[in-house]
Amino acid sequence: MKILSLSYFILLGALSFYLFQEKTKAQSIKAGAEIYQDFCVQCHLANGEGVSGVFPPLRASDYLLNNIDLSIAGIKFGLKGKIVVNDEEYDGVMINQGLDEEEIADVMNYILNHWDNSSEAFITKERVEQIQKSILQ
Ligand code: HEC
Repeated sequence: MKILSLSYFILLGALSFYLFQEKTKAQSIKAGAEIYQDFCVQCHLANGEGVSGVFPPLRASDYLLNNIDLSIAGIKFGLKGKIVVNDEEYDGVMINQGLDEEEIADVMNYILNHWDNSSEAFITKERVEQIQKSILQ
């Protein structure tokens, strides 16, 4: 009986470890690549360079690489009004793409680490959860 309940707990432990396991950064980037193709590529383009004056670049974007939390907020809540990206002014509208927090973390890990971009940061859904709309004002 003791052995039976012990193996029950071991099984339960293994199962919850499996179910609640967080993604690695590489797995998140991979998932983000797919999200990018579905939700971002039509404006920011496959090469991440956008369209000068209309859709800002993500590749080598100083805005993205220096303002990770603002970039998360823009994807999470939508972004409008004047911003400056690599010395060029944009005054457009990006609507909220309807992604959940984990999808936003994945696509952020992808755009921060694709093209020639690279970032030490590992964006988690917990970080996305904490970002408030008020930081955009
Ligand atoms: C319909 C076109 C459109 C789509 C789709 C779109 N964006 Fe944007 N994005 C924009 C525009 C326009 C801006 C600039 C908004 C402004 O001027 O305030 C922007 C700004 C940004 C910025 C901050 C500026 C920069 O270039 O670093 C990031 C980061 C960003 N978008 C990421 C994404 C991601 C990730 C997705 C997909 C989940 C996405 N966008 C989907 C049009 C789009």
